[in-house]
This record gives sequence, C-alpha cells and structure tokens, in this order.
Amino acid sequence: MNFSSSSEMRIELDPQRMPQHVAIIMDGNGRWAKKRLLNRINGHEKGAEAVRTVVRTARRLNIAALTLYAFSTENWQRPKTEIAGLMALLQRFLASERQLLLDNEIRLNTIGETDRLPSGVRDTLRAVMAETAAFDKMVLTLALSYGARSEIVSMVRQIAVAAKAGTLDPDALDEKIVAGHLATRDLPDPDLLIRTSGEMRLSNFLLWQIAYAELVFTPTLWPDFGESEFIQILKDYQNRERRFGAVISP
Ligand code: IPE
Ligand code: IPE
Ligand code: MG
Repeated sequence: MNFSSSSEMRIELDPQRMPQHVAIIMDGNGRWAKKRLLNRINGHEKGAEAVRTVVRTARRLNIAALTLYAFSTENWQRPKTEIAGLMALLQRFLASERQLLLDNEIRLNTIGETDRLPSGVRDTLRAVMAETAAFDKMVLTLALSYGARSEIVSMVRQIAVAAKAGTLDPDALDEKIVAGHLATRDLPDPDLLIRTSGEMRLSNFLLWQIAYAELVFTPTLWPDFGESEFIQILKDYQNRERRFGAVISP
C-alpha cells in the first residue's frame, strides 16, 4: 500500500496493523444543521457525504469490515417527517453509491430489524446486497433499525427454541454459539469503535461485540468528519496496547 503520496500522518500509519473491523456511531447531524439554522434533514444529507468519504477511505486502507450505525430501534421515536426524510435519503444513497460498491468490490450487508423499513428501501437494499454478495474486499454493514438489546433477545429466543427442540444442549452453550446467533455472526468483533459528536455513550450499539473494542470519542459532528480525522484516529488506535486482560511481556 502506498501511503507516501500525501501527509506525514499517513506515512506513520502501519498497513500491517490496521483494525480488521471498524464500527462507527455517526452522531451529530442534527446539531450540525441547527448550528447553521438548517433543517435536521439537511444535516443528514451532509452526513451522507461523510459516509461516502469514510467508505472510500476504509476500502483504500484495506479495512476488511466497516459497520455504520445509521438508524437505531429508538430512532423510530423521532418525528414522522424526520424518519420519512431519512428513509428517502437512505434510498437515494443506496442508488447513488451502488456503483462505488461495485467498482470497489465492497459487499453490502445489514443488521437490524430491516423488515420495519419502508418496502422501497427494503427492495433497494435487497437488490444491492444481491449484486455485491460475491465481493470480499470489504464488507460494509449498515445498522438499520438496529438495537443491541433487540438483537440479544432474538439470539436468546433462537437458543431457547433449539434447547426446547432438543437440538442444542444447554451444557454445550458457549460464547461461540452465542456469537453465532447474533446478526454479526459472519463478522469479526470490532477492533475500533468511533463515536462522533462528543456524546460518550453506546446508545444500544453492538453491546456484545465491543467487549474488547478500543473506544474513540470525538467532538466532531458527523457531517464534519473526514479522511484526515479518520486516519488520525487509526494512528491513535495503532499506538494503543491491546492487552485483552493479559500481561504483555516487556
Ligand atoms: C445521527 O445524527 C443520525 C441519526 C441518529 C439518524 P442525529 O440526528 O442524532 O444528530 P444530533 O445528535 O441530533 O445532533
Ligand atoms: C445513535 O445516535 C444512533 C445512531 C447514530 C444511528 P442517537 O442520536 O440516536 O443517540 P442518543 O439519542 O444521543 O443516545
Ligand atoms: Mg444524535
């Protein structure tokens, strides 16, 4: 990989120590818009541009999995007009980014209760996921109507059903089986979790999966998040010592 083209910052990024999976809570679109006396939906539109940038950068840096929190189960409580605007934007975004995914061999994936999404969005998602299903350079997962607690309840239900049917022995239950019944079963756990907008909470995102993720909170509002900050965060990540509870010998 050639990092020498631009800033010094990039030269310091070690391509051998990239996180395999980066997860991002994209927050702050509303505040970005409010600061400019715009509608919240204008903030979401600007946020979609930041998504584009981050997807391109992640792919270029050979990050294998990128998971973006785009809409939570709790976000259904927002005003109907904002939800409708977000869904329309999502559909436009999928149509406009389809070619980017095809050109860059990025597989589109979703987690969450996608059956709650409008049928037009579901159809577009299904079509783009089918077209990109064979790609393996990077998997882009959109968390849509996603909530970790709902995901965990669904996992417990599946396991209970299997135990009742006699196909799963409760004594054989282990972490691998639990992880295998989550929506993220085909993804490695995130190595790095980023949240923008200065809020320091998880808001029901990937609660099981981030047990040992490195956490980064930045005050930047999502529409202002760009490639240079992303790269800076990756550099900070590479400077952290991940111990996983063990002692690292000197
Ligand atoms: C994140 O931005 C996008 C979604 C949750 C859909 P917000 O809309 O939460 O923006 P703030 O937090 O109100 O600034
Ligand atoms: C989290 O942001 C959900 C997404 C980014 C999609 P929210 O703005 O919904 O979270 P809270 O309400 O600040 O916890
Ligand atoms: Mg928010």
